[in-house]
Amino acid sequence: MSAPWWQGCAIYQIYPRSFQDSNDDGIGDLKGIARRLDYLAGLGVGAIWISPIYPSPMVDFGYDVAHYCDVDPRFGTLADFDDLLVQAHRRGLKVLLDFVPNHSSDQHPWFVESRASRENQKRDWYIWRDPAADGGPPNNWISDFGGSAWQWDEATGQYYYHAFLKEQPDLNWRHPAVQAAMYDVMRFWLDRGVDGFRIDVLWHMLKAADFPDNPPNPAYRPGMGEMHRLLQRHSTDQPEVHLIAAEMREIADSYGARGQGERVLIGEIYLPVERLMHYYGGERRGVHLPFNFQLVDMPWRAAALAAAITGYEAALPPRGWPNWVLGNHDRPRVATRRGQAQARVAAVLLLTLRGTPTLYYGDELGLSDVAIEPSQVRDPRELREPGLALGRDPVRTPMPWDDSDNAGFSRARPWLPLNADWPARNVMRMAEDPQSILTLYRRLLALRCDRPALSIGDFALLNVADETLVYARRHGTERLIVALNLGERQHRLELPDWARGSRMLLSTTGDAAPVEAGVLLLRSNEAVVLEAR
Ligand code: GLC
Repeated sequence: MSAPWWQGCAIYQIYPRSFQDSNDDGIGDLKGIARRLDYLAGLGVGAIWISPIYPSPMVDFGYDVAHYCDVDPRFGTLADFDDLLVQAHRRGLKVLLDFVPNHSSDQHPWFVESRASRENQKRDWYIWRDPAADGGPPNNWISDFGGSAWQWDEATGQYYYHAFLKEQPDLNWRHPAVQAAMYDVMRFWLDRGVDGFRIDVLWHMLKAADFPDNPPNPAYRPGMGEMHRLLQRHSTDQPEVHLIAAEMREIADSYGARGQGERVLIGEIYLPVERLMHYYGGERRGVHLPFNFQLVDMPWRAAALAAAITGYEAALPPRGWPNWVLGNHDRPRVATRRGQAQARVAAVLLLTLRGTPTLYYGDELGLSDVAIEPSQVRDPRELREPGLALGRDPVRTPMPWDDSDNAGFSRARPWLPLNADWPARNVMRMAEDPQSILTLYRRLLALRCDRPALSIGDFALLNVADETLVYARRHGTERLIVALNLGERQHRLELPDWARGSRMLLSTTGDAAPVEAGVLLLRSNEAVVLEAR
């Protein structure tokens, strides 16, 4: 196959605090990840993306970076990282890091200098503004974690801007020295051999130069989180951000051009599809994969899914490669959103759509959100706006590996509680069970690897009804059909003439009915993959 590796493989997101502890402090680390590489290779994913591992005060659990070119001692050392990279590559696994360019920690030496005085040469590396005429913040912008996005600095008599926590000041990406410094950070890791980056909040990186007020959001309702009071018209998604993405792309591409392996950039971007598409770039290429989060937030109904899939396919620019995401460390888990039975159907959908799929660790076990006692809450999002179900701790709990103490995650008490059902819902148990969702994921990933129609083939919608969705994937002479039942009722589906003799390749239920006389019987909550003959 001639498709680049990042088109053909599935990406697996690891939240490093919660994957595997190796030094008995209750927090996962790099050596722990290295220990589990055989599991990941056996699962059948082709790349891992590791959430931030850099030195950090951990106010936002690593998304507050205090040093861009090192490893936090809680996670290990640079040598541990190099070792992980070698071990992963040896198993054919690519490694992506999380690049957090929009903001640093307030403990980063750059910010420490920047806030030292108005004359400091790093002052303009961050976004400083005088107060408004009434002495209040320079404009009405709201932090994504609630409250004003401006923090008053008594010592120098100005406000600085933070799209997230006040401990995460935004860098000033209009400053050429900031750009140069951050591009050097990318080169630092790319030179070490990382295969690319997931770029944190890419659409936030540039703000309107004159900082106008954001308009009110007419759809705002209390309980949505304060950030939704305003539309982020001027604080995000500014046209100049595409120049930055293009520069980053050129850096990444320069490695491939030198024969050092193709490196990939994935952008974290929460925007409507039409605007998302701009992040692929135009004449100058943007990121390879602007994350497509539609499956995370949309209603789980056949017509809505069909419209989202076809709308997305139609909106893709020429050469734009699609991608799909089912969950991440910021959103409720798929098993919680859809229930256990539909989590299996969702797995089939994710792994049979056209485009690169990204899986979130633990979703292959059907992990649900874990209820966190108020006294155990760690996430700053929950601490700042409690009770709105915005907290992310429930989706960041430790990976349950086996039925030994603490599910084999750690010999110490884990930093967040385990899922209550861990004695049964763990890798060891589920790997032995032919009916488990883990076995289903393995089979789906193996099928995807085996069948170019699934990984790089064309997509065609065949049929949408009340509760069912049917589509075809084709490559050369290979023709596969995927049928999903999103409901509890059983459905009889008439297959097109060319697929009347189809053979069952995989079903989410053990007792899939064979295709008879061109009719497929889809049981309650069943999804199947067929091969047309
Ligand atoms: C991204 C991350 C999220 C983090 C935020 C601020 O959205 O996914 O976890 O809190 O950026 O860095």
